[in-house]
Amino acid sequence: MIEQKHLIDLKGISKEFDGTTVLSNIDLYVRKNEFLTLLGPSGCGKTTTLRIIGGFEYPTTGTVYFEGKDITELPPYKRSVNTVFQKYALFPHLNVQDNIAFGLKIKKLHKDEIKKRVNRMLDLVNLKGYGKRSVESLSGGQQQRIAIARALVNEPEVLLLDEPLGALDLKLRKEMQLELKSMQQRLGITFIYVTHDQEEALTMSDTVVVMRDGVILQIGDPKTIYDEPANAFVADFIGESNILRGTMVCDEMVHFSGYDFPCVDSGFGENVPVDVVIRPEDIMIVGDDIGQISGIVTSVLFKGVHYEMMIDTGETEFKVHSTVMQPQGSQVGLSIVPYNIHIMHPMPQEPEIDEGGEE
Ligand SMILES: Nc1ncnc2c1ncn2[C@@H]1O[C@H](COP(=O)(O)OP(=O)(O)OP(=O)(O)O)[C@@H](O)[C@H]1O
Ligand SMILES: [Mg+2]
Repeated sequence: MIEQKHLIDLKGISKEFDGTTVLSNIDLYVRKNEFLTLLGPSGCGKTTTLRIIGGFEYPTTGTVYFEGKDITELPPYKRSVNTVFQKYALFPHLNVQDNIAFGLKIKKLHKDEIKKRVNRMLDLVNLKGYGKRSVESLSGGQQQRIAIARALVNEPEVLLLDEPLGALDLKLRKEMQLELKSMQQRLGITFIYVTHDQEEALTMSDTVVVMRDGVILQIGDPKTIYDEPANAFVADFIGESNILRGTMVCDEMVHFSGYDFPCVDSGFGENVPVDVVIRPEDIMIVGDDIGQISGIVTSVLFKGVHYEMMIDTGETEFKVHSTVMQPQGSQVGLSIVPYNIHIMHPMPQEPEIDEGGEE
């Protein structure tokens, strides 16, 4: 049975294009008013998943439910879903207000109602007074906001957004992230958002879905995804990490970089290969004589808030972030508290990529 509180359910969704599997066995639910983000590298199947939810693509196997009803075969215009596409296409021959009004005119709403709603949308996306402008006279960011207004004006229950901020520069992207998030909260609309930008996903979402090669690797809230990544791929994709091959010696003891380190994980077995993930900010630089290991600083980069230092222990090169700079060439000690050593089941060394694989 499908749980009532779920707005959308994907059950066992697979998709093949010309015999190549691009999605395999996706199970996912979206709750009402949730901000859910599909995150993953190019070609992992984000857009395809979104298009299946929107009805622009049919899955090869599996079922799409909306409020418990099977909508797998339902065409897009019969779904309570609106989409802002990766390559948003405004009508170049229509001005701003006619672009936004397009869907409402098709629905044959009264002129006054259309005008009222269009003006409310222009207000919402901070483009009051732009109604009569031609879309071609607008900047990329303004056009993007019109594309969002055009989708929101139909008051969909669910808005699908495919990399809607991809074309914007960093500053505008940050502004729009906040704007979109607050719009979503004010309007109480469910957002399904696609991005390959991990920071964007972590800032905006209630739930992050990490994908790779057509498979979901992890679903969780941003903090869980960051603090407890399911495997080394997620850890690496979600932030900077030192990822090392290691051996679980026994419960709460792991061997890497030539030494045994106490850790907090157990249940992996004895003398089994594992991946060890350590965030650069979790490695402490201490006096050479009191560290668990010692190494030489081989490079120093100032990154705005912290310094990024590469430290070579002979066995391993660690990336370390610290607000205190150690000069290049100096000998330092490194110390890692057990809690900050994350043990994971090893990922395959070479991820197998099917022919359709990454671009
Ligand atoms: N209509 C199609 N015909 C054939 N192959 C397709 C089609 N649409 C998508 N694919 C393939 O499916 C895979 C997943 O594509 P998809 O567009 O979903 O990826 P994505 O995660 O959105 O990537 P990006 O971040 O680059 O937009 C890719 O290998 C792509 O080439
Ligand atoms: Mg895409």
